[in-house]
Amino acid sequence: MVLHGAKLWGSIALGLLSSGSVARSIGPRDPVPAGYRAAPYYPTPYGGWLASWSEAYAKAQALVSRMTLAEKTNITSGVGMWMAFPAGITTGATWDKSLMYARGVALGEEFRGKGTNIHLGPAVGPMGRKPLGGRNWEGFGADPVLQAKAAALTIKGVQEQGIIATVKHLIGNEQEMYRMYHLFQPGYSANIDDRTLHELYLWPFAEAVHAGVGAVMTAYNAVNGSACSQNSYLINGILKDELGFQGFVMSDWLSHISGVDSALAGLDMNMPGDTNIPLFGFSLWQYELTRSVLNGSVPVDRLNDMVTRIVATWYKMGQDKNHPRPKFSSNTRNKNGPLYPAALFSPSGQVNWFVNVQADHWKVARQVAQDAITLLKNDGPLLPISRSAKVSVFGTDAAVNPDGPNACLARACNKGTLGMGWGSGVADYPYLDDPISAIRRRIPDVKFYNTDKFPKISTPADDEVAIVFISSDSGENTLTVEGNHGDRDNHKLAAWHDGDKLVQDVAKSFKKVIVVVHTVGPLILESWVDLPSVKAVLFAHLPGQEAGESLTNVLFGDVSPSGHLPYSITKAATDYPDSIAKLKGFTFGQVQDTYTEGLYIDYRYLNKNNIKPRFAFGHGLSYTTFSFSNATIKRVTPLTFLPPPRPSKLPIPSYPTTIPPASEAYWPEKFDRIWRYLYPWLSKSDADEAYAIGVANKTRYPYPDGYSTTPHPPSPAGGGEGGHPALWDVAYEIRLTVRNTGSKFKGKAVAQAYVQYPSGIAYDTPVVQLRDFEKTRELAPGEEQEVVLQLTRKDLSVWDVVRQNWVVPGAEEEKRFTVWIGEASDKLGLACYTDTLKCEVDVKPPV
Ligand SMILES: *[C@@H]1O[C@H](CO)[C@@H](O)[C@H](O)[C@H]1NC(C)=O
Ligand SMILES: *[C@@H]1O[C@H](CO)[C@@H](O)[C@H](O)[C@H]1NC(C)=O
Ligand SMILES: *[C@@H]1O[C@H](CO)[C@@H](O)[C@H](O)[C@H]1NC(C)=O
Ligand SMILES: *[C@@H]1O[C@H](CO)[C@@H](O)[C@H](O)[C@H]1NC(C)=O
Ligand SMILES: *[C@@H]1O[C@H](CO)[C@@H](O)[C@H](O)[C@H]1NC(C)=O
Repeated sequence: MVLHGAKLWGSIALGLLSSGSVARSIGPRDPVPAGYRAAPYYPTPYGGWLASWSEAYAKAQALVSRMTLAEKTNITSGVGMWMAFPAGITTGATWDKSLMYARGVALGEEFRGKGTNIHLGPAVGPMGRKPLGGRNWEGFGADPVLQAKAAALTIKGVQEQGIIATVKHLIGNEQEMYRMYHLFQPGYSANIDDRTLHELYLWPFAEAVHAGVGAVMTAYNAVNGSACSQNSYLINGILKDELGFQGFVMSDWLSHISGVDSALAGLDMNMPGDTNIPLFGFSLWQYELTRSVLNGSVPVDRLNDMVTRIVATWYKMGQDKNHPRPKFSSNTRNKNGPLYPAALFSPSGQVNWFVNVQADHWKVARQVAQDAITLLKNDGPLLPISRSAKVSVFGTDAAVNPDGPNACLARACNKGTLGMGWGSGVADYPYLDDPISAIRRRIPDVKFYNTDKFPKISTPADDEVAIVFISSDSGENTLTVEGNHGDRDNHKLAAWHDGDKLVQDVAKSFKKVIVVVHTVGPLILESWVDLPSVKAVLFAHLPGQEAGESLTNVLFGDVSPSGHLPYSITKAATDYPDSIAKLKGFTFGQVQDTYTEGLYIDYRYLNKNNIKPRFAFGHGLSYTTFSFSNATIKRVTPLTFLPPPRPSKLPIPSYPTTIPPASEAYWPEKFDRIWRYLYPWLSKSDADEAYAIGVANKTRYPYPDGYSTTPHPPSPAGGGEGGHPALWDVAYEIRLTVRNTGSKFKGKAVAQAYVQYPSGIAYDTPVVQLRDFEKTRELAPGEEQEVVLQLTRKDLSVWDVVRQNWVVPGAEEEKRFTVWIGEASDKLGLACYTDTLKCEVDVKPPV
């Protein structure tokens, strides 16, 4: 299979050679804090018991039963190391479900055009718990529901094109630094309690599984002290039992640290195939997995389940029917390149066909970039400006990198317009329309100061407008940019290149200043946001290739801005507790990242502690105004405290469980091996020896504590893809009328629905939590649209750690849930009640 998303390992500095498992030799570990425990969960639940997957599993069974041992182990591993659109955060900022889906469709069409089988996205972990976290921009925002809905729609769009989507990274990858296991230190441990895991971090993964995602990628780090790629509780227990995941689980690149143990813990595919030191031709699976099955350590049924899951997913996406062959290489931009890039020396041949798959996807790219632009402030109002305005532009972020838009490897530089973060999640730009070119198309004689230091200029007239471009970048830990190790550990929440100083200097000279911010996440704006001349602030997030026209459409008023913040912007980093505000620093053992704040991240934390942010989660202004009125709430499915008993499992494919003959693992005769390529075969003597151990069944493998081959009773919270199907029953439906109450501008509004749990219940819950949202079409002045919002059983549930199930608190007593609806998490004027089924306007909101 071909996977899209180049993985770059420029800074892997491990000089030591190892061919075996390092998992057991890694140490020392700092102890995981008291109370956190990675409980054993064995064996791996089999796939194939859901009706929606049964046809794919039946086809898979027919194929898998004809495969040899070597063919099977071959398919569970990559064959070695090395083998374009606005970012996730920008998509989240649109709050537009139809665009989330349209972007997924366009991504899927491009991957299909290139002959790709798997798309390594979307990313919903990190969640954005830590504002300084390096890869938050790959996800959709610091809220589980925003992440979940965006991910589910992306997956739907991608997979409808026959491409397998991969939701990643399971789980707790909330900072980049110290995430990886290597010979000297284990990756950090994200210590997450059960309720926080379910109600925050797992929520978007559950929604992705519910959307039918084909693959899940595990994170580099550990959870509760056990590495995610071999954490049996996480993969076997949570993902494959409770969430009923039917596809396959792959490791993140080079995070595979054990052979037998990871197989038993539920991993199905090892990527890229190597041990965690690539290019030496060593693997913990491939030939070693063949050996482990022959010698009886990995049960035959576990291997069959791995392979069946992979093949079934391939059938499920219809890749057996006319799926195009690969037409690109992620290793080189040249026509010819290594045919076996995993090998140290490889024969060459054509690897790139340069198929143009862009079609009219620029339209979606521009729409996403444009509809994400978030107007935070507009005094005057200064915006929009007219084409006759006298305009000066400041900042290197306004113009494309003079070395070219794709000049830096994996975008590991912040030079010129910032359209994406850096790391393996990036794509080359087919082109980059930069803001200055787009502004020049409207105002040819605009003055442009391509510098981040305020230049000497003559005093501007009072009505002259200055537009200042500033940025903040982050990315993957494998590459360091201007002292930032993936996370924003150097610049923190300040603009790069002294951007905050540039804004202050421009604001001393000009009376009308617009600040445009290209950023991976929140910044602290306090040094300039209240200056009288700083009239307008636009967060353009990471706009991708369409940075220019998307912005000028907003600046000059062709469209009203309609983005909303996918995170809160605080007045100080210290407004959050250390567990969120700070990155974890180096220790000699295992870095412990303990989620002591529990459910309280972003606005959930600020609301609980009565801290007013500078700009709240969901905030975003328009050039026009809207009213929300005529709201009604209807009960759709009555709720009980617990969901009904779960549906039972359908029969699954079965295979013989006897150890296959050693001959299935012998090297083929006269085989021309490529040096250091990864193969599934063993020499005849090795295979015979392993088989003899296996059939004698005397030498016992030192199985992990708690290992068992007796299946657990199925989780009562499970029963369908993503969990118990009743969790998606619509409990309440709310309809309201959104009206453009302005007189001049068209605009799009976002109705955001936040749930407040009943008072006097036995569970501590955040003051309000986002549960649904809907963006209107573009409404002309005076125009109205009816908007429908839905609340499912899960939206009104909490995870009960004792019952190990979702419960609706107060359901029996019909206690009141209040649904707050508004344009931002701190602008909630409309309330609907689940007990009286009434809605009221102009009610004093709880925040
Ligand atoms: C981590 O430990 C906590 C506390 O024991 C537990 O509630 C939770 O389920 C554990 N999570 C995992 C993934 O093991
Ligand atoms: C192993 O997989 C590769 C593709 O990754 C394929 O070319 C090769 O034929 C396979 N070998 C076996 C034994 O199935
Ligand atoms: C079987 O092979 C695997 C992989 O080499 C090894 O880790 C394991 O210890 C072996 N088991 C036995 C019982 O020899
Ligand atoms: C008010 O809402 C009801 C029910 O959704 C709808 O039928 C009606 O047309 C709405 N009235 C206005 C004035 O929007
Ligand atoms: C090997 O022996 C163990 C313990 O006697 C038994 O539980 C297991 O089923 C046997 N495995 C095989 C493959 O025969």
